[in-house]
Amino acid sequence: MELVMKNVELKAGDKLKIKGIVLHDADRFQIDLGCDEEDLALHFNPRFNDALDGTVFVCNSKAAGCWGNEKREMNNTLQKGAEVKIVVAFSGDMFEVELPDDQQVHFPNREDMDVIKYLRIRGDFK
Ligand code: GAL
Repeated sequence: MELVMKNVELKAGDKLKIKGIVLHDADRFQIDLGCDEEDLALHFNPRFNDALDGTVFVCNSKAAGCWGNEKREMNNTLQKGAEVKIVVAFSGDMFEVELPDDQQVHFPNREDMDVIKYLRIRGDFK
């Protein structure tokens, strides 16, 4: 699945709420927030079969098409086949991703983006 929105306007203090189903045979999916495909403030990427870590949340940023340093958070506790609510709270300095079972993943706004205009959700999530 791929969903792209180019007319988003997410600012400090805003929350983005996403509801969907993790596919029962999920390998990975991602929620990307930024200016465009090449410039992302947040790439939030739950993986279920990562070569290094198995089930893990990988976060990163992308500037002019180049990935930054990955931040990995163990473990990805999302259940395959489950309907989940994911809330991304944007404080300006940080992205706080709120997940089921009170799990949270934080990622700094390294690219200092004031406004998120672009959203993409793709992968094994419907
Ligand atoms: C790469 C992967 C990208 C993205 C990136 C994050 O290995 O191909 O899709 O997840 O890691 O650092």
